[in-house]
Amino acid sequence: MSFPTHVKIVEVGPRDGLQNEATPITVEQKVTLIERLADAGLSVIESGSFVSPKWVPQMANSDDVLARINRRPGVTYPVLTPNKKGFMDALESQVTEVAVFAAASETFSLKNINCSIDESLTRFEPVLESAEKHGIKVRGYVSCVLGCPYDGEVDPSVVAEVAHKLYQMGCYEVSLGDTIGTGTPLKAQAMIRSVSERVPVEKLAAHFHDTYGQALANIFAVMALGVATIDSSVAGLGGCPYAKGASGNLATEDLVYMLNGMGIETGVNLEKLMAASAYISGVLGKPAHSKVALALAGK
Ligand code: HMG
Ligand code: MG
Repeated sequence: MSFPTHVKIVEVGPRDGLQNEATPITVEQKVTLIERLADAGLSVIESGSFVSPKWVPQMANSDDVLARINRRPGVTYPVLTPNKKGFMDALESQVTEVAVFAAASETFSLKNINCSIDESLTRFEPVLESAEKHGIKVRGYVSCVLGCPYDGEVDPSVVAEVAHKLYQMGCYEVSLGDTIGTGTPLKAQAMIRSVSERVPVEKLAAHFHDTYGQALANIFAVMALGVATIDSSVAGLGGCPYAKGASGNLATEDLVYMLNGMGIETGVNLEKLMAASAYISGVLGKPAHSKVALALAGK
């Protein structure tokens, strides 16, 4: 088996991690978290969403967060934009990268963004056109790539079709979301094989939630097929408001520990990452969902 020598980690904690938290988190707390993640060496930190505040209240202060962070050279702070309105608002916050998000399941698409998969792709077209004009990079997400909370099994060929459309529209990277974390390693590999027939594997990212404790095994499996961009969430925070029971993404601490042990470079300092993890766990008043964080804290 061969593995990448370097992995790009996309830290999604301040967005995917916090979007589902019931307790309001202040702008200052979000900014502190983002600064600590940057201190730890994370170079891509998803920092908010320009979505309807009625749908996801926790992300309502994303513009204030972006106004307050001390943007560092070499670090990008992408945000989610579901439509042109979200994109125009994000533009006012001087973003350099945004993400659009589609799904491989019709019911999830309706529940999450109130439209069909095809309609969502149509809504993304003006986002991509405008982004190109403004020199802004666009990432594409596909949710439910290994199962849907409403429709159950998802066919890998549907994932490949949606991923290919996003790539063709101009998304520079397509992140494949196991939104509810039901995937297992061989299924994850079959899905990646199917998608990589339509989108080059170096353009793919794995975004695996850890609901059933499978995320690290699934990451290992897809890295063996060449996937070298991995989304994770500090302290294993998070879940999706429209995927009941979905727990957080794979914890960044657990990912970095495994990659360190495999000699795969990430540029992330685990000790400093622990400080970010301890900080946000303190704010939320609950322990990190990370075996590594618990093990290191107990030392
Ligand atoms: P809608 O109600 O169909 O939109 O929502 P609409 O166009 O009919 O507009 C209705 C109202 O929303 C209007 O306001 C608009 O101005 C406003 P009103 O006139 O009633 O006062 N509106 C907006 N406000 C702020 N920002 C916007 C925006 N657009 C319209 N961008 C919409 C459609 C997409 C807006 C809504 O469904 C929504 O915001 N959904 C957000 C869903 C979300 O954020 N989900 C979590 C992120 S995805 C995820 O977690 C999965 C991922 O992690 C990958 C994985 O794990 O698989 C990425
Ligand atoms: Mg997610």
